[in-house]
Amino acid sequence: MITTSNADESSPAQLLVSDPSRSYAALRADVDAAAARVFASGRFILGPEEAAFEEEFAAYLGCRHAIGVASGTDALRVALIASGIGPGDDVITVANAGDPTPMAIWSVGAVPRLVDVDPVTYTMSAKAAEQAIGPRTRALLPVHLYGQPADLDALTNLARSAGLRLIEDACQAHGAAHRQRRVGTVGDFGCFSFYPTKNLGAFGDGGMVVTDDDELAERARLVREYGWKPRNRALLRGINSRLDELQAAILRVKLPHLDEWNARRREIAEKYRRALPGLATADLSLTLPGEAPGRYHVYHLYVVQVDRRDEIRAALAGRGIGSGIHYPNPAHRQPAFDGFWDSRPCLPVTEALAQRVLSLPIFPEMLDDEIERVVTTVRRVCRRES
Ligand SMILES: Cc1ncc(COP(=O)(O)O)c(C=O)c1O
Repeated sequence: MITTSNADESSPAQLLVSDPSRSYAALRADVDAAAARVFASGRFILGPEEAAFEEEFAAYLGCRHAIGVASGTDALRVALIASGIGPGDDVITVANAGDPTPMAIWSVGAVPRLVDVDPVTYTMSAKAAEQAIGPRTRALLPVHLYGQPADLDALTNLARSAGLRLIEDACQAHGAAHRQRRVGTVGDFGCFSFYPTKNLGAFGDGGMVVTDDDELAERARLVREYGWKPRNRALLRGINSRLDELQAAILRVKLPHLDEWNARRREIAEKYRRALPGLATADLSLTLPGEAPGRYHVYHLYVVQVDRRDEIRAALAGRGIGSGIHYPNPAHRQPAFDGFWDSRPCLPVTEALAQRVLSLPIFPEMLDDEIERVVTTVRRVCRRES
């Protein structure tokens, strides 16, 4: 059950951007029982909990196969390797979603080709992706950023017409939907992270690769464990990346709550949308996130744009409210990529967003008076009140 008031508390507690400890507090008895079950079982890797969670997650998404791995980054790596992508290949992705996605591509020996994003949804521009396709391009890898599905109509058409794989990075979008289909199930592969702060988070690392394609699923299963089939017989090049029993058991406790949690995230987003000045009063230089039609946004993060970001962050911090920047350095500006491409990609929308994005607290257990505290503080700074 989600409670919505902490009126009894006299001083404002530290409010984090996301707070997995509150989900533990809410589910403590079930999580502890699940952990105890695993410890007593003596099975810690690829056992019954993991197999059951794979089935339950696939059923939740409405797809045929789910393959548990050790992290979201590994989900991307396994999907790429299982797709036969490696040295000599290019993969088109975005630069505004942090480092894991381009790093996953680079780590399998392929070249990330970074393209710009749509200024409203912050997700891959299909037009920019089309312009970036070259003779070595093998896949499109859009990110459903902050919980908003990318434009899967345009990107699916583009991938089909250009003969490319479509690999969805759904690490921030568990339960999000595009035209009634859960994201992750539209492309050839969908990749999920269970990092603790995600909409469905473990209490450690974890990830999942999903697909409807039997052959790709079989390859992904082999890739995640040394290319083995059966055990100790390597049929293809693999890595070691397994979702452990403890995390799988915890995720099984959490999965049945995911829809309710996403609904609460949307409710909080709606409260922000109503209470904060938006585009209509652009003189306050605050832009609220937009939701594209036909897409079910699950607000992994609530990201606004502001000019006076440092000022707002300081005011929030002064009232015990955390905030975040997702992400301050677009991937093409990271020192690791100095000299990597013949010329650095030109990404004006991505660059502008990096200067202005600000993440406000949002998580299912957030209380109504905490939302109010965030709203009051942001409004005050925007109006230059003390
Ligand atoms: C968009 C995106 N892709 C990939 C990842 C990688 O996930 P993980 O941290 O589980 O490796 C993350 C999570 O940080 C992410 O947000």
